[in-house]
Amino acid sequence: MARHDVAVVLLAAGKGTRMKSDMPKVLHPLAGRPIVRHALAAAETLEPQRGIVVVGPGMEDVAEAVAPWPSVVQADQNGTADAVLAARDALDGFGDGSDNATVLILYGDTPLIRAGTLRRMIEARAAGPHLVVLGFRPADPAEYGRLVLDRAGALEAIVEFRDATAEERAITLCNSGVMAVSAGRLQGLLDRVGNDNAKGEYYLTDIVGLARSDGLSCAVVEGDAEEVLGINSRGELAAAEAVWQRARRERAMAEGATLLDPATVWFGHDTQVGRDVTIGPSVFFGPGVVIADGAEVRAFCHLEGVSIGAGAVVGPFARLRPGARIEEGARVGNFVEVKNAVLGPGAKANHLSYVGDAEVGAGANIGAGTITCNYDGYLKHRTEIGEGAFIGSNTALVAPVRIGKGVLVGAGSTITTDVPDDALVTSRAPESVAEGAAKKYRERKAREKAARKKEG
Ligand code: UD1
Ligand code: MG
Repeated sequence: MARHDVAVVLLAAGKGTRMKSDMPKVLHPLAGRPIVRHALAAAETLEPQRGIVVVGPGMEDVAEAVAPWPSVVQADQNGTADAVLAARDALDGFGDGSDNATVLILYGDTPLIRAGTLRRMIEARAAGPHLVVLGFRPADPAEYGRLVLDRAGALEAIVEFRDATAEERAITLCNSGVMAVSAGRLQGLLDRVGNDNAKGEYYLTDIVGLARSDGLSCAVVEGDAEEVLGINSRGELAAAEAVWQRARRERAMAEGATLLDPATVWFGHDTQVGRDVTIGPSVFFGPGVVIADGAEVRAFCHLEGVSIGAGAVVGPFARLRPGARIEEGARVGNFVEVKNAVLGPGAKANHLSYVGDAEVGAGANIGAGTITCNYDGYLKHRTEIGEGAFIGSNTALVAPVRIGKGVLVGAGSTITTDVPDDALVTSRAPESVAEGAAKKYRERKAREKAARKKEG
């Protein structure tokens, strides 16, 4: 393909009223990141010369979420053509009025659009037609705009459902909304769009009919119905999430991971999974998880912002929070929470522990019920545990504290001061053993109970 410049305009000014939410629709998360960032990520792969996001008044949070993409404000939501016009200044000078540059128009609420499809659209556009529309054939064409083709199979017009005749409504090829338009023609077409239609809005779709009457050529590229799924309601958000998750699970397996019950594994948008990784049923990955080759994540784990080293075993029932680094061959067992802490190679925390703001040396063993007391009610403090240390069960490590290499901490200890390498430390209330006292106690209590019964 000869050099062909691309500018992307993404429309996100709609209020999304059907979400019934205080948050703008495009900020709702899909796979753990805002809906709008999905389409932007696909667009970024085209390396566009310019990119503009059209937002509504007061949508500073959307502008922030799309940064570093610049945004412009569409003052009133008068329709999709009006929205593209809001980007007029931002597009000024782009493509030099030439047909060798393309403005690609995307919708912010269509997150599953694939990079490859966008590429196909740009290639189709560069091959000649002045305007290319992404069409699809949904199982139920419902209220989508219909693509009207001429006898030669070229695109003649887009008719919005509300304005369509019965014959036009019978067309099954629908408008996804994604459009690639010659940069040299776009503004001239947009300027002539009127609002004499059922909604009284300026329809972007009208530029097809206008282009044809100017003698320009328009074409259709067909996409998959699932990838152009638009999100207008919470139900559609859940449906899109399901489509995304299914595709991601398939990719994980294709890349060499075993998913014992794929339908119950929930991935984040950026989860990285190595080869020969095994993931058990009902595992949730929030953003920022990296799993190295041969690691195992057993059933019912919740992970976010975590890296898991090669051959490490996590779970079942483990909670790994941001900043957890589980190194090669380490083990994190059931009901263990790790936050902002490193578990060195081969270290183990197998049962019922909290390890937060800590560094655990290689091969150390954290006994059941060990707690790093990292918070004093005001500030967080760090705990260091040396290589090969053994922390007895039910130990409280009151941070800041440093446990040396090879230290042995007796079970039930509360450690508040640093312990040197290879020391043995215990801190317990002294034990007292009263021989026969339990037996005496039981006898006394039994007598008391019998006396009560007699009194009635
Ligand atoms: C639009 C298309 C329809 C297509 C359908 C696909 C038009 C006229 N119709 O209809 O042919 O089948 O999408 O989903 O384009 N937006 C703005 N400013 C506005 C209006 C909309 O930024 O003034 C944005 C919305 O945030 C949204 C996108 O444009 O991201 C589409 O708007 P929406 O109102 O959902 O269009 P549809 O009626 O679904
Ligand atoms: Mg819509």
